Amino acid sequence: MENACGSRLVAAVDTSTDMLAVAVARLTAGEEGLSAELLATGDHLCRRHANVELIGTLDAALAEAGASISDVDALLVGRGPGSFTGVRIGISTAKGLARGANVPLFGVSTLDASAWTAWQGGVRGLLGVAADAMRGEVYPALYRLSDAGVERLFDRERVVKAADAVAVWAAREDAAELQLTGDGLKRYGRLFDEAGLTRRVGEELWHPTGFSLVLVACAPHLAPQSSVAAACAPQAPHLGAHSSGMAQRHIPSSFGPTCGTWDAQEARAGGKRADVPSVAEPVESLRYLGDGDPATVLPIYTRLSDAEENERKRLGRAASAQSAVTGVADELAGRHLQFRPMGAADAEAASALEATCFAGTGHAAWSPAQFLSELGDEAAVPRSWWVAHDDGELVGIAGGMVVEHDVQILDVAVSPERRRQGIARRLLAQVSYDAQMLGCTTASLEVEDGNAAAIALYEELGFSQAGRRRNYYGQGADALVMTAPLPLVLPVDAASPEPTAAAHRAWPLPVPQRTDEERAELARLAPVLAIESSCDETAVAIIDTDGRLLANKVSTQIDFHARFGGVVPEIASRKHVEVIVGVVDEALEEAAETLGLAGGALAPSELAAVGVTQGPGLVGALVVGVAFAKGFAYAAGKPLITVNHLEGHLYANLLAEPTLEPPFIFTLVSGGHTMLVHVRAWGDYQVLGETLDDAVGEAFDKVAKALGLGYPGGPIISRLAEEGDPKAIDFPRAMMHSHDYRFSLSGLKTAVVTYIEQETAAGKTIHLPDLAASFEAAVFDVQFKKAWDALKETGAREYCLGGGVAANPHLRRMLTEKLGRRGVRVTLPPQNACTDNAAMIAEVARRKFSEGDFAGFDVDADPNMTL
Ligand code: KG4
Ligand code: ZN
Repeated sequence: MENACGSRLVAAVDTSTDMLAVAVARLTAGEEGLSAELLATGDHLCRRHANVELIGTLDAALAEAGASISDVDALLVGRGPGSFTGVRIGISTAKGLARGANVPLFGVSTLDASAWTAWQGGVRGLLGVAADAMRGEVYPALYRLSDAGVERLFDRERVVKAADAVAVWAAREDAAELQLTGDGLKRYGRLFDEAGLTRRVGEELWHPTGFSLVLVACAPHLAPQSSVAAACAPQAPHLGAHSSGMAQRHIPSSFGPTCGTWDAQEARAGGKRADVPSVAEPVESLRYLGDGDPATVLPIYTRLSDAEENERKRLGRAASAQSAVTGVADELAGRHLQFRPMGAADAEAASALEATCFAGTGHAAWSPAQFLSELGDEAAVPRSWWVAHDDGELVGIAGGMVVEHDVQILDVAVSPERRRQGIARRLLAQVSYDAQMLGCTTASLEVEDGNAAAIALYEELGFSQAGRRRNYYGQGADALVMTAPLPLVLPVDAASPEPTAAAHRAWPLPVPQRTDEERAELARLAPVLAIESSCDETAVAIIDTDGRLLANKVSTQIDFHARFGGVVPEIASRKHVEVIVGVVDEALEEAAETLGLAGGALAPSELAAVGVTQGPGLVGALVVGVAFAKGFAYAAGKPLITVNHLEGHLYANLLAEPTLEPPFIFTLVSGGHTMLVHVRAWGDYQVLGETLDDAVGEAFDKVAKALGLGYPGGPIISRLAEEGDPKAIDFPRAMMHSHDYRFSLSGLKTAVVTYIEQETAAGKTIHLPDLAASFEAAVFDVQFKKAWDALKETGAREYCLGGGVAANPHLRRMLTEKLGRRGVRVTLPPQNACTDNAAMIAEVARRKFSEGDFAGFDVDADPNMTL
C-alpha cells in the first residue's frame, strides 16, 4: 500500500509473552525522518492460545485498518526472548506470512518492545525489564528512557536466576531510581520488593504491544513531530559502536577479558543502531535490522538446549569422554569422523595436538591445565570448545569465548594429516553456532599475516579483515584481525548438515515470468504444497492434481541428535525454525524445474493449497510447521489443509501403487507407533491393535544405543543383519500367541541387553551381525503372524505397510514373499517414502483438496492425534 508521500503499511506480531501483540501501522517518510501512525491493534492477553488466535487477530486488525494482508509492505516480529513455544509460534507465523506475501520481515527484541510500551505510557528515567524466563529465571534488561526515546544499557539478551537479577540491580548506585516492568514481576515481584526495588510501572504496561514493536523498529529514524502516534520524539543520538576489546589468542581464560556478573558490560550503550543510515523510504529504513529475508530471522536465543548444557557439564567433569561403547568399530556403525563438544578427558590429547600443529611456529601450545580451565563451570564468560575425532583419535579442535555479542575464536587446530577435509570449517561452524545460541551476532579471530590457506578458509566462511596487530606473533609477524557476521557462510550439504548457514539473496524475490499457457497449465495442475515437521526432519513436497510429485525435499537433523542417542525435542524445534523457509524455497524451485518453467521458482500465488502435518508428534516441532503453513497460506490467499501424520504413512503406499483401494490390512511401524489397522475405506480406520509399550522403531533405536551403535538404530541394525544368521540367538517373540492384535517390545529389548551383558561378562565377543539378524527375526515374526491373522479374520486380500521400519529390506522381502505365497497382494511404499517425508503428507493433502476438506486458520498442532 503505497501512496504519493511515501507511506508504507507494516504489520507487527509478537507472541513471546502471554500478550498476543498485533498492530497495523502506517509509516511515512518526511523531511525529518519517519513517523509511525497506529491504524489498528489486536493486543490482548492470550495464554497458550497464540497459535489458535494469531492469524484471526491479525486479520481483524487489518480489516479495521481498511486493508488486507496483500496491502502489507513489511512485517515485524518480536524475536523474544520469552516463552520458547510462544517465540516459535510468532516467528514461524511471521516467516510464513513474509514468504507467502513475498515482503520483508524484520525481527526486534521483545524486551526492547516492553521498554517502549513503558515509554509510550509516559515512563521516563531508569527502567528495568524483568521478563519471565520460567524455572526461577528472568531475562533482565536495563534502559534509560527520556523524551527523546529509549536507550539500551546492555549488550545482549541473557537469562539469569531471578535472585541474581535482584542482587545486581539492588547493588546499583542508582537503584533508588530504578523502575521495574515485565511479566517476570508477576512471579518474582516479591524478590525485588524484598531487596528494596519497589518502584513499578503500572501493570497494564508490563507487556510488549504491537505498536511498541513498530516503535522499536523505527526508533533510529523517528521524526521529531511524528504524527499520532506517537507523540514520538526522535531518539537520542547514539554514540559510536564500542570496540569489543579483542581477546589475545592463547591466553588462558583467567587473564582474558572477564565479566564476572551478567551486567558487567551494561554501562556501554548497545552499538547496534549507531551507524544506521537515514533512508527516506520507510521499508528501506528498516534494513538496518536485517536483509528482510524471512529465512534469516531467528529467535533471540539465550542458551543452548538443556540436553546440550547437561552434556557440556558432564563432559567438563567426566574422566572419560567416550560414552560406554561395547568395542564396536566406528566404521561398522558408518560414523567415522565425528564431532562433539570437548570434554575434560580430551585435555591431554588436545594439548598434544596443539603441540604438533604449532611445532616450529611462534605459538606456544596450551597445556592440559589450560584446556581444563576452559571447560570448567567457573570460566568467567561462556565458552564453546569442540573436537573432531575419528576412531577414538582426536584430529581437530576449535574453541571460542563469548564477549558481548562477539564470539572470539581462541584456537583452531587440525592434525596435519587431516587438513583439507573440511574439519576446521565444521568445527568453527559448531563453535559459532553455540555462540549464536548464546546471543552472539559476530565472530572474530586472529590469523598470521601470510598464512594464505587459513585466510582463504576464513574468507570463505564470510570473515573479512577488520584490523592488524603489528608484531603480534613476534618481530615482523603481524596478526590480521578478521570478523564475520553470524551465522557463518557454509556450503549446504544435505548428507551432513551444518549448523545454520547464512543465505545471501535479495529479498523480496523477483516475481516469476510466465506465459499465458504456463499460467493456464499451472492452474490445471493445481499444485499442493505440503509441510512435515513432526519430529526431526523438516520436509516439503509439492504434488499436482494427477499425483505427480513436482518436488520432494527433506532436511534431516539426524547429525544434531545422534550424539544424544535420540531426538532432543528442543533442538528439533530450533532446527525447524532455522531451516523451514530454505526447504520451502528449494521445493518451489524444484517444482519449477520439474515443470520446465524457465521464468523462476513457483510463487506461493501459483499453488492451489497448503497442507501441513497437524499431529501426532513432538509439540514444539509440530507448531513450527503448523504456524508457518498458516501464515503462508493466509498471506498467499490459499486454503489450508491439515494432515494426520499416521494417515500420511498409510498414503505413502499410493506413491508406489496409485490403484490401491480399501479394504485392506495396514501395518504401521515407525519410531513412535506400532499398529495394525483394518482400512475399510479411505478415512474409515479400524485400529485392530497397538503396542503396549515401545514402538518397533523405538526398539531398534534402543538396541542400537545399547550396543553403542549410534542413532537412528534401524538402518544400522538392518545393515548389520545383512550378514547375520537370524536363527543364531533365540530371542522371545512377545505376544505371538496372545490371540489379539496387540504388541509388546520392551521385553525383547531387555532380552537383548541381558544377552549382551551375559556374553560380555563371560568374556565372549558378541557377533553383531547374528545379534542384529536374530533381533530382527524376533520382531518380524510377530509382525507377520498378526498381519496374517488379521487378513484371515477380515477376509481382506490386500496388505500394505508404512512407517520408518517399512524401509527395512528384510521386513519388506519377508512380507512380500510369505503373504504373496498366501495369495495376498502386498503394496510397499517407495523405500524413500517410509521414514518421515512430505511426499506422503502431500498425497493426503491432494485428496483432501479434491474433496474441499479445508481447515480454519485457528487450528493448532495436535501432538496426540490418532488414526
Ligand atoms: O516414521 P519415522 O521416520 O518416524 C516416526 O514417525 O516415528 O520412523 C523412524 C523410525 C526410527 O526408529 C528408525 O530406527 C526406524 O524408523 N527405521 C528403521 C529402518 N530405517 C528407519 N527400522 C528398521 N530398519 C530400517 N532400515
Ligand atoms: Zn513418521
